[in-house]
Amino acid sequence: MKKDAIGDSLSRVDGRLKVTGGAKYSGEYKVPNLTYGVLVSATIASGTVTALDTRAAERAPGVLAVITPFNAPKVPGYQAGAERPVRGLKLFNDNKIYFNAQPIALVVADTFERATYAASLVKATYNTEPFETDFHKNIDKGVTPQKGNYKDYVRGEANAYKNAPVVVEEEYLLPTEVHNPMELHVTTAFWDGDDKVTLYTKSQGVKGSQRSIAAAFGLNPDNVQINSRFVGGAFGSSLRTWPHEIAAAQAAKLVKRPVKLTLTREQMFTQVGYRPLTIQKIGLGATADGKLIGITHESHSQTAVYEEFTEGAVNVSQFLYNSPNVNTLYKVVPLNVGVPAPMRGPGEATGSFALESALDELSYKLNLDPIELRLRNYTDTDPERNKPWSSKYLKECYQKGAEAIGWADRKAQPGANKEGEWLVGYGIGCGAFGAYRGNAVAKIKLTADGSVNIQSATSDIGPGTGTSMVLIAADTLGIPADKITFELGNSAFPNAPTQGGSATVSSVGSAVHDVCVALKQKLYTMAGKPADSTEPIDYVAVLKQNNMPSVELTQESKGNPEAQKYSMYSFSAHFAKVHVHPLTGQVKIKKIVACVDAGKIVNHKTASSQMIGGAVGGVGMAMTEEAVFDDRYGRYINGNFADYHVPVNADIQQIEAIFIDKPDPVLNPVGTKGIGEISLIGVAPALANAIYNATGKRVRELPITPDKLI
Ligand code: MOS
Repeated sequence: MKKDAIGDSLSRVDGRLKVTGGAKYSGEYKVPNLTYGVLVSATIASGTVTALDTRAAERAPGVLAVITPFNAPKVPGYQAGAERPVRGLKLFNDNKIYFNAQPIALVVADTFERATYAASLVKATYNTEPFETDFHKNIDKGVTPQKGNYKDYVRGEANAYKNAPVVVEEEYLLPTEVHNPMELHVTTAFWDGDDKVTLYTKSQGVKGSQRSIAAAFGLNPDNVQINSRFVGGAFGSSLRTWPHEIAAAQAAKLVKRPVKLTLTREQMFTQVGYRPLTIQKIGLGATADGKLIGITHESHSQTAVYEEFTEGAVNVSQFLYNSPNVNTLYKVVPLNVGVPAPMRGPGEATGSFALESALDELSYKLNLDPIELRLRNYTDTDPERNKPWSSKYLKECYQKGAEAIGWADRKAQPGANKEGEWLVGYGIGCGAFGAYRGNAVAKIKLTADGSVNIQSATSDIGPGTGTSMVLIAADTLGIPADKITFELGNSAFPNAPTQGGSATVSSVGSAVHDVCVALKQKLYTMAGKPADSTEPIDYVAVLKQNNMPSVELTQESKGNPEAQKYSMYSFSAHFAKVHVHPLTGQVKIKKIVACVDAGKIVNHKTASSQMIGGAVGGVGMAMTEEAVFDDRYGRYINGNFADYHVPVNADIQQIEAIFIDKPDPVLNPVGTKGIGEISLIGVAPALANAIYNATGKRVRELPITPDKLI
């Protein structure tokens, strides 16, 4: 194999910068004259703030401004009839309070500590109104989503499962789970005159941020510069522009100095979205030999009173298995809470927990191996859309994953498998996530010293996007990776989609591939050879023969129109082996295997890391994470890392990623399908199912804490 080809394991091109502290995150830019913004949060969950006493804060040392609903400069995009209206919460635009911890003031001072102190001096007077944060009490107030033409789904007959010979009918609860990336959300904003603004901000999409900030302030997008070169994790929490980012720019405009606004860890629980609390009912009906007759999947999840959030929690039940009858229902319950946001595997992670747990329950009722049950309901075409899959190797995932976890050692009878005093269990959980591709543009420059630079306005929230792009370019151009640099995270670069939905390698990777092909063709033509020649040529010599110091090209890459004919998904089978202590309920996750059909894998090293990271997120979802409200106040009681538990190294033993690694022939020229979301989907049910296999205890309410096992 040639060096630096797609399919290699290339170390991160920015790894040295990251481990030496050279990588600058949004909060680390030294901007002259910097000031610091600190948000003051409401302490009621509904009503109005009738007065704010800011006198003490304004007199405190170093304070430059205290912005409140009573004095805030108007944000054009917040006003009724705005040309480009900003969706969601309009911070400081009026005095209404929709949820506890909603910001009611922003203090700007010359140091962070002074701003924090002054923020503590702001005193609010409220008119308190009744509020609701109790999901269970309000579940009957669920409404069909208004957005996006949502329709409940029926194939064949609704609720057909009820008349089947073997029936499972259960309810599954997923608590609120918060992204909590290690890096806090930070925005540094500064203006050049009245109509040009620059933001260093944590963003999954610099072009999207550019459009949102331009809309908010009524600016030409070209006058908005967004920088987000390094992102310390986001998981969906930076897919959109949040009110605090607009507030930072609003404050910078007012004080005529740069403002850096950093959320506190507690504010990370309330200001930047979360995976919503969801209750799902699953009905499964099967024949005695394990053929599904009907699937019913009903989901209720929470949203905010001021903005609707929806996700595809029930979608997976519509296509993952071959059942003649399927119906799904989805409702959102508006509460006095901050608005949710997509969180890694949005919708599918939630839905798969319920569906894959219920299938496991069905397997025990049928006395059938859980893998065999899935094989009996395997579908070679998409039963929802009646289209062929662009590619699907889920059977291979079952088989390879089963081998790697040691499925042959599983005992069908719960509680029958012991190692010393520990109960041993094995479980499987499957998932799928749409394989998408957006339009993206890349610009390439070959210089006479042989170096290649490529730019595209994508982001890297952690997967190693730059590294994959360098590998695609190295492979396509046939030159060593260390000659190539890839730049991202800057809105001045050519257009690229927001990094989300597992689509970056598919979208931006295609643009990188295509721009490299275009450059190659140009160089061959310059060398007087056919553009599609495969004969090796010396690119630098071609430049020199033509007396050119460099050559530059920009190429847009759009989706394949043929793709319409196919249904495109990445598929996964997660396997877990657990030990459970029968007396203490302690769970030791001995091993997780993630076997994935995500098309061609560009870079095995970063892809494996991404799968491991996603699995750790899944462990958090399954075992520890739960944001808990005190419904008397509508306020989280565990909005910190002491009380909200995320998995740490000691919780994680072996995680192995296995890739089928067969190129998808349809979606894009590289053959990738995406792994960002699939890495998490299926982990929670694999663990819940393994714990049942070990103990005979079926936990349908996450997280699976020890108290639920004793
Ligand atoms: Mo992902 S939830 O699309 O950042």
